[in-house]
Amino acid sequence: MPAVCFDLPVLSQQSITENVRLLRVIWPDREHAPHAGQFFMLRSWAADEAPTLSRPISVHYYDAESGELQFLYEVKGPGTEKLALLSEGDTLTVTGPAGNGFVPADFSGRIAVVGGGIGTAPLLQVVRELDAAGKRPEFFCGFRSGSYGLEWFQPHVTGIHIATDDGSEGHHGFVTQILNPEQFDVVLCCGPTPMMKAVAALCKEKGTPCFVSLENKMACGIGACLGCTCHTHTGAKCVCKEGPVFNAQEVF
Ligand code: FES
Repeated sequence: MPAVCFDLPVLSQQSITENVRLLRVIWPDREHAPHAGQFFMLRSWAADEAPTLSRPISVHYYDAESGELQFLYEVKGPGTEKLALLSEGDTLTVTGPAGNGFVPADFSGRIAVVGGGIGTAPLLQVVRELDAAGKRPEFFCGFRSGSYGLEWFQPHVTGIHIATDDGSEGHHGFVTQILNPEQFDVVLCCGPTPMMKAVAALCKEKGTPCFVSLENKMACGIGACLGCTCHTHTGAKCVCKEGPVFNAQEVF
C-alpha cells in the first residue's frame, strides 16, 4: 500500500522522561490505517531546512475508532530536537504508514514481547493488537535506569518483567537474564542491536522462533534510495520496505 502524506495539527506533546517525548495527532486516512511495527516519516521543518532527511518514527499507539496516532521517541539529534519543539496546534508533516510490521495473525501460542529502552515504543501497539486478537502476550523490558510507559502495557499483557542496567528497578542486569525462550512459542523483539542479537541468539539456542524490528538509518522511507539496506541470508533487503520486522535468523 503506498504511503500518503498529511500536514497534521499536533494535539499535544508531553515529556515522559528527560529525553523521551509523546507526540499525538489524529491520522485522517482510514484507508491507510497503520499497524503494529510500521513507521511514519516525520518532519516539522521546511524542505530546504536542515536536517535534509525526515525522521522515521514507529507507531506507538493507533486507535482505529478515534484515529488518534501517537509517537513515542527519544530526542537524540537535530531532527528529533526540532520535533521536540512542537506543541499543541503546530503542524507536523506525517508520511506513511511504511514498512511491514508485526502481524498478530502470524503468531499463536505463548508469545513473549521483549523491548529495550526506546525500542519499547512500537511494542505498545504490538501488545494492543495481540490482545485485541485474543493473544495476550507476556512482556519483558530492559532499561538503563528506571522504566517508563509500562502502565500503558499493563492492561494488554499477562505479566511485566523488568531489568535495569543499574538495578534501580526489577532485575539488576540484562533482559536476556530473565527471559527463558523455552517457555514461549515465539518471541517478538525491538531494542538496541546488541540486545536484539542477544535475544535472537538465546532463542536460536532454545529453538524458539524470534522476530526483530530493525532500526537502520533511513532516507526516503519508501524503498527508493537503498539507504537502509541490511544483509540477510537471502540477499540485501531494504529495512524500510521489506522490514523493519524480520525473522531474526534471516538477519543475525
Ligand atoms: Fe530509502 Fe529505505 S530509506 S530505501
